Amino acid sequence: MSQRTKIKALLESEQTHIEVTVKGWIRTFRNNQFIALNDGSTNNNIQIVVDFENTDPALLKRLTTGAAISVIGELVPSLGKGQKVEIKAKEIEVLGDSDPEKYPLQPKKHSLEFLREIAHLRFRTNTFGAVFRVRNTLSHAIHTFFQDRGFVYLHTPIITASDAEGAGETFHVTNFDLANPPKTETGEIDYKQDFFGRATNLTVSGQLEGELGAMALSDIYTFGPTFRAENSNTTRHLAEFWMIEPEMAFYDLVDNMDLAEALLKYVIKEALAKNAEDLEFLSQRLAEEEKQKPQNERSDMSLIEKLQFCLDHDFQRLTYTEAIDILKESTPNKKKKFQYPVEGWGTDLQSEHERYLVEKHFKKPVILTDYPKQIKAFYMRQNDDGQTVRAMDILFPGIGEIVGGSQREERLEKLEQRMDEMGIPKEELWWYLDTRRFGACPHAGFGLGFERLVLFVTGMGNIRDVIPFPRFPKNAEF
Ligand code: 4AD
Ligand code: MG
Repeated sequence: MSQRTKIKALLESEQTHIEVTVKGWIRTFRNNQFIALNDGSTNNNIQIVVDFENTDPALLKRLTTGAAISVIGELVPSLGKGQKVEIKAKEIEVLGDSDPEKYPLQPKKHSLEFLREIAHLRFRTNTFGAVFRVRNTLSHAIHTFFQDRGFVYLHTPIITASDAEGAGETFHVTNFDLANPPKTETGEIDYKQDFFGRATNLTVSGQLEGELGAMALSDIYTFGPTFRAENSNTTRHLAEFWMIEPEMAFYDLVDNMDLAEALLKYVIKEALAKNAEDLEFLSQRLAEEEKQKPQNERSDMSLIEKLQFCLDHDFQRLTYTEAIDILKESTPNKKKKFQYPVEGWGTDLQSEHERYLVEKHFKKPVILTDYPKQIKAFYMRQNDDGQTVRAMDILFPGIGEIVGGSQREERLEKLEQRMDEMGIPKEELWWYLDTRRFGACPHAGFGLGFERLVLFVTGMGNIRDVIPFPRFPKNAEF
């Protein structure tokens, strides 16, 4: 294979009148003369000028939208508007034809819903090209952030026997013949005969194993897929999503919040620096989309302004109890505009409440702390009031909860007592409890939902459009 130069580098080239080889997929071919070629290195296409009078008509016919081609030509300053350089083709080779009658991606605007049905091809659109390049930058930036701070990247298991969050939303893993699983004498499924000799499931969180790592390595993080069988058909939930879970020994909740805020700001800043063109494109896309909405639902900031705003302001920190007081007194609550009215203390916040706090009341990211213990997981550190735990959720505009975390309960008796109250089997988590028996120390951590982060940074409206192949109820295509 001859070396080719990526289109991004060609478009930035200071040198012209040089011979170059470029390869990519045809976006459009106009007037039998101008090919717009894209190779995914940038949202911008390079223009290839075809000398049609001296080109075999049979070849010209094969230059169709979607075809893969290789071009050797001269990089020259462009006469046309909108681009600095273009390529005068000398040799064009079609590597892969694309039948224009059958190719599903026409050079026109397609709806995101339609593109979801052809997710195998949607990478070839400007929107998804931009989304997945931004996703890549964010993913790299997460590693850089932690690596620069001496965190150890820990790979926690995908198949486990525990339900870390205790919410019962796990996918079972088995190699039984489901039509005929072995049974015990009392007629129950006999998991002792299953592959792992016990019932297992896909992980909902790497946290518990992460804590074990932190109790020796001090600071660890995970970054991997997690699975939840919650039947939430929303724009914010996936059945398979990627989560970043740092866990830090000798951290309290304030240290934890500081780290999470620094992480979010760092990765957003990296995206702004490295994906300026993509974000500019996505910002315009969002502005176009917002024009369809009624005036009062439009955002007064562009996507880029929103991201910058996030960097420039401290996140608002307050307790759950303070938030409830604000919500109770809020206009939508008094005017009965909330679908779930806020009356008492102790119930979980709905996303309409979270969004009111972030978007209307504080108008910036919010960190809520010290939630009622009954709505949070068993491992969170109990406060002296006997009612609340050292939890924190970070809420973002347009998204709601993006991070969930806590200081962990390091006191063995308190932890065991809470597990008993919540019906969490202590025998099964003997290894987790061991860290509280041998060298327990204060520690904390959080989970950042990666797709919710990508959703925020790209300004997309549906979480299914920021992961290459989304998994959600009744869908596992591709
Ligand atoms: O709040 P969650 O459930 O917290 C945990 O799993 C903890 N073990 C984290 C920790 O402390 N180490 O999930 C963490 C984050 C949420 O804030 C949200 O951003 C994301 O994961 N998340 C989802 N993202 C997409 N689809 C889903 N179904 C999600 N469920 C949670
Ligand atoms: Mg949560």
